[in-house]
Amino acid sequence: MKLLLTVLKGIHKPAVYVSHQRCLSSCASGGLLPHSDEPLIVGSSRELVQRLGSQVEVRTAFITEEEERAFLRELESGLKKKRYEFDHWDDAIHGYRETERVSWGAACEEVLNRVRSAAFPEGSQLLGPVHILDLDKTGYIKPHIDSVKFCGSTIAGLSLLSDSIMRLVKEDATSEWLDLLLPRHSLYILRNEARYNFTHEILKDEESVFNGQKVPRRRRISVICRNLPG
Ligand code: OGA
Ligand code: MN
Repeated sequence: MKLLLTVLKGIHKPAVYVSHQRCLSSCASGGLLPHSDEPLIVGSSRELVQRLGSQVEVRTAFITEEEERAFLRELESGLKKKRYEFDHWDDAIHGYRETERVSWGAACEEVLNRVRSAAFPEGSQLLGPVHILDLDKTGYIKPHIDSVKFCGSTIAGLSLLSDSIMRLVKEDATSEWLDLLLPRHSLYILRNEARYNFTHEILKDEESVFNGQKVPRRRRISVICRNLPG
């Protein structure tokens, strides 16, 4: 990935460094980003954005509206039977319902194969079921690191229905952070150090500000593929 670094004045942090992974034209349909040169990754230092940037990807417009509808058609009836869970104080996730699925209709399977070939090395062993996480408008994911016992080096997720912000914070040095803007219809990929040594979280609506710009958080469904530990 080619990084074009620009130093900006931070709003609430002394300095923010941006990685210009470009937001492609179809951001227009997502409605969030008025300009095609908005960054998708900002962070606490140029070095961090550069180093970690190679282990973090955000691909905008990875799916079309029609593909999003195909996922909703397959998932919505099952999700609606569940209630959002809010009250478990020790949970990493607040305001969510979830499911997993092994077999998919043709349209979704086609998208998932695209995710697999974008994110995972050929022949790597994937976790069988795909994980679906439905966050209520008020839901959010607290900082955590995915189980190293059950999941391998790579996590790849599609974002449906809403834009959101994923924050990565270095586990043993919390002044080191990256914010990823995850537009609706995008794919994000976390690998290696970004996956093992940084917590990740999805910000709640009140805190959902990216590089000084409010990013309204609506209900969001993520479709997450993982590999097995090596
Ligand atoms: C998780 C997680 C992120 C997302 O379920 O462990 O971090 O995109 N999800 O929903
Ligand atoms: Mn996680």
